[in-house]
Amino acid sequence: MSDKNGKDISRRQFLNYALMGTGGFLAAGILSPMLRFAIDPALKTSDVGDMVAVGNVEDFGSEPKRVDFKVHTVDGWYESESVKSAWVQVTEDGEILALSPICKHLGCTVNWNTSPEHPDMFYCPCHDGLYYKNGVNVPNTPPLAALDAYETQVKDGKLYLGALKPNPNEGGA
Ligand code: FES
Repeated sequence: MSDKNGKDISRRQFLNYALMGTGGFLAAGILSPMLRFAIDPALKTSDVGDMVAVGNVEDFGSEPKRVDFKVHTVDGWYESESVKSAWVQVTEDGEILALSPICKHLGCTVNWNTSPEHPDMFYCPCHDGLYYKNGVNVPNTPPLAALDAYETQVKDGKLYLGALKPNPNEGGA
């Protein structure tokens, strides 16, 4: 057997080279994920607040329509996915309003137009909570605040939702 300079190498040398190569290959395979694991979270910023596409903007109209979407969250080492929902409508002013379905009383899920006694309102079945179409709570019903609204953005015909914020109609139903 001979090396790259044409010199003969012993069986022992050959085995040493082979073992070093195999050991280096295995060490790289083990160490590189550990290195990535150690460095990655420090380099990444949190995904919370990133906008998520929920459909074509033309699919929404004046009637509130429910959309469900996944949000990917990175918090240090911990990554998770959660499903969120919104009631999306186009207001008389042509603005997109995307309301959270989480009732501001005790957190049940609010639905649109499901109470025959209260048509065209958001209704919470847990304690008969009521909200107007713009998400503002009806006085003298259990909820004491308006439904939160998602940040919205339209890009290339798609609607994106972001973080929740106070309802822009709050205080001016
Ligand atoms: S939780 Fe909605 S009215 Fe109580």
